[in-house]
Amino acid sequence: MIDPHLIKKDFPILSRMIENKPLVYLDSASTSQKPQSVIDAITRYYSNSNANIHRAIYTIAQEADDAYEATRESVRAFINASSTEEIIFTRNTTEGINLVAYTWAEQNIHEGDIVIVSALEHHSNLIPWQQVAIKKNARLAVIPLSRDPETPYLLDMEWFKKYLIENSTSIKLIAITHASNVTGTINPIKEIASLVHAHSSAKILIDGAQSTAHLPIDVQDLDCDFFAFSSHKMLGPTGVGVLYAKKQLLEAMPPFLFGGDMIREVHQRDATWNDLPWKFEAGTQNIADVIAFKEAITYLTNLGMENVRQHDQKLIAYARAKLESIKNLKLHIPKNNMDMTGVISFAMNGIHPHDIAEIFNSENVCIRGGNHCAKPLMESISVPATARISFSVYNTEEDIDIAIEAIIKAKKIFNIS
Ligand SMILES: Cc1ncc(COP(=O)(O)O)c(C=O)c1O
Repeated sequence: MIDPHLIKKDFPILSRMIENKPLVYLDSASTSQKPQSVIDAITRYYSNSNANIHRAIYTIAQEADDAYEATRESVRAFINASSTEEIIFTRNTTEGINLVAYTWAEQNIHEGDIVIVSALEHHSNLIPWQQVAIKKNARLAVIPLSRDPETPYLLDMEWFKKYLIENSTSIKLIAITHASNVTGTINPIKEIASLVHAHSSAKILIDGAQSTAHLPIDVQDLDCDFFAFSSHKMLGPTGVGVLYAKKQLLEAMPPFLFGGDMIREVHQRDATWNDLPWKFEAGTQNIADVIAFKEAITYLTNLGMENVRQHDQKLIAYARAKLESIKNLKLHIPKNNMDMTGVISFAMNGIHPHDIAEIFNSENVCIRGGNHCAKPLMESISVPATARISFSVYNTEEDIDIAIEAIIKAKKIFNIS
């Protein structure tokens, strides 16, 4: 088991006081805080080894090169990809998904084809596919939420199986989130992948933005074709994302961006492309942040992702019990804790989520109120917005107690029983 009280000490921002109140950070689904080791790695690179990569032979350039490629190996091991050729650095999850939309989909989605997404998608894994569908005159199908009162906020897998079997030849891609940033729902990716592979030749893209900081990830075991995620949600710096893709797919895909570093030979009128993974990394990369990302992976790996998951489960159980006892508060999360990560949306009769977030802020508790970049999901669950608390490895039960106090304060201010 991990000790969040000890972990908190590694995150300098978490010792900050504002107006004599400790900072309680419950918005890690938006972006996580960073441990000292990540912050130090950025300073170390700029102080000691700042040089461009893949170009020069002098010592500091070699150091920068080695450190940048060392992160790639750490990422490979963290998600159990079979080769570093399958690890592409991007700016974030959004860019990874767009990379697939602009390259693989450009070549492989045609008129009348079907791309399937789910009702739980963040806009980042919806709008690129809407655009592909519009451009290619393809169809976008949406796996709905279950209507069974026993399985709220889970996907309707019966609908999915039926649709998959009835449309197997037209379906070319399933682009689906691993975990929802609103309801915390963990989608059954292995089950989806085995159904898809049994009934069609469609590819599977996983939006891993909300799963990589909470669950052990094994892309080979999940049997997905693409898996995109962001460093900043998993204790690493902003400006770094990863797209994993199976090697044979990357080999067949055209480059996403053109320019320096992604080429092999260039003549006045044509060019050929670099080996994987550099074929997909055009121009000078975010070297410092990629290098520092390795420290975030090391931090999570040292904790052990099974332990991270257990800690998440403990906080979910604790928060659920407290929140369920509050009158006029509705939770928008699955019934079973094992079906979710540490992301809890709730709504309160008579108080807008923005007001809730404002009152939380007056207690120095950071949460998010809004549509969480998931407007169609808000429609599916019939609310304009939710308040959301979300956990990371540094959160304690005391953090949740302070959040509960803030809810009680909000109810008093709005005169709600
Ligand atoms: C499920 C999900 N997908 C995609 C994204 C986009 O991530 P980024 O902004 O790092 O590209 C987010 C961000 O909140 C998310 O929660």
